[in-house]
Amino acid sequence: MTDHGISQRKLDHIALALGSRSQFTQPTGFEQLHFVHQGLPEVSLEEIDLSCEFLGKKLAAPLLIASMTGGPIQGGRINHYLAQAAQNTGIGMGVGSQRIMFLDPASHASFDLRKYAPDILLLANLGAVQLNFGFDENHCRQAVEMIGADALYLHLNPLQEAIQPEGDTHFKDLWPKIAHLVQVLTFPLLLKECGCGLSGELAKKAAEVGIAALEVSGAGGTSWALIESQRSTDPLRRQLGETFANWGIPTPLSLQFCRQAAPKMPLIASGGIRSGLDAAKALAMGAQMVSVAHPFLQAATESPEALSARIQLFLMELRVAMFCVGAKNLDELRGKELIRF
Ligand SMILES: Cc1cc2nc3c(=O)[nH]c(=O)nc-3n(C[C@H](O)[C@H](O)[C@H](O)COP(=O)(O)O)c2cc1C
Repeated sequence: MTDHGISQRKLDHIALALGSRSQFTQPTGFEQLHFVHQGLPEVSLEEIDLSCEFLGKKLAAPLLIASMTGGPIQGGRINHYLAQAAQNTGIGMGVGSQRIMFLDPASHASFDLRKYAPDILLLANLGAVQLNFGFDENHCRQAVEMIGADALYLHLNPLQEAIQPEGDTHFKDLWPKIAHLVQVLTFPLLLKECGCGLSGELAKKAAEVGIAALEVSGAGGTSWALIESQRSTDPLRRQLGETFANWGIPTPLSLQFCRQAAPKMPLIASGGIRSGLDAAKALAMGAQMVSVAHPFLQAATESPEALSARIQLFLMELRVAMFCVGAKNLDELRGKELIRF
């Protein structure tokens, strides 16, 4: 059975994502947004409560390890480390695309995460475009059942597919298929981008068809145009990726667009979230959760302990930001003023 080169591609993605040219050269814009510091916050650092509930599950903090990998040997080990660290720290986790599970049974072990993380919020993942290439509600059900997930992400990545030499670029007529899935599936369905951001128009449509939550994955962090450019051996395709290296809606803007267009839609902020301070800003802007890929991937190449320590630092940064604006819980953080400077 062929895996369509997916194993090698996943390994390339991990290696290039960890390399020196994987990130947007233009930042997210979070660095221009500032909280109003409170010299007398009337709260004690120790009482700050990050706990929350998302998709019916309780979490120690509003944080997810973003969908990244699973499948090939190195990706499998990383996936296990990601799950162990999520369990240790009480946060959630998305898995990388599970298409490989339908093509290569040897990949299943890498997605066997419930033995490491029995309690966490776990999100399954398939590419929405695969609905145009033979995938249907049964694949969605199996993706969730095979890993014991709580919900399913459909990822949207038209730019990446356009630059990837073997990319699937037939993105037509997907809304009716997504709307049908919402009707027939019994678990929540989420949409996520992969570093180019979601528009207000998309958020409005997603709310109309009954999508449970959106992960914006905006511009400013990992650049899939740059990563696919480096994978290509064709000079023209390499140039194509370079041209679109900084393409996309910056994460804070995407959050704003989605919040305005779909006021009740739960939003996950992601794309270039690099610290708990970035996370605090995204939460103040109305995100329910934040999700982080690149910084956690780096730590996960070492050990579950290194990743747990990285996550604890991230949560401490979030806690200190909340302390210094006088917010003792996430409700009090939401709506705190941010000034562009
Ligand atoms: C190595 C790697 C593999 C990824 N694979 C997937 C994937 O299979 N499915 C998906 O939805 N997103 C995938 N992503 C995208 C992330 O979930 C996230 O949306 C994106 O990297 C932006 O976050 P960041 O700036 O924190 O890296 C991957 C990211 C990385 C770094």
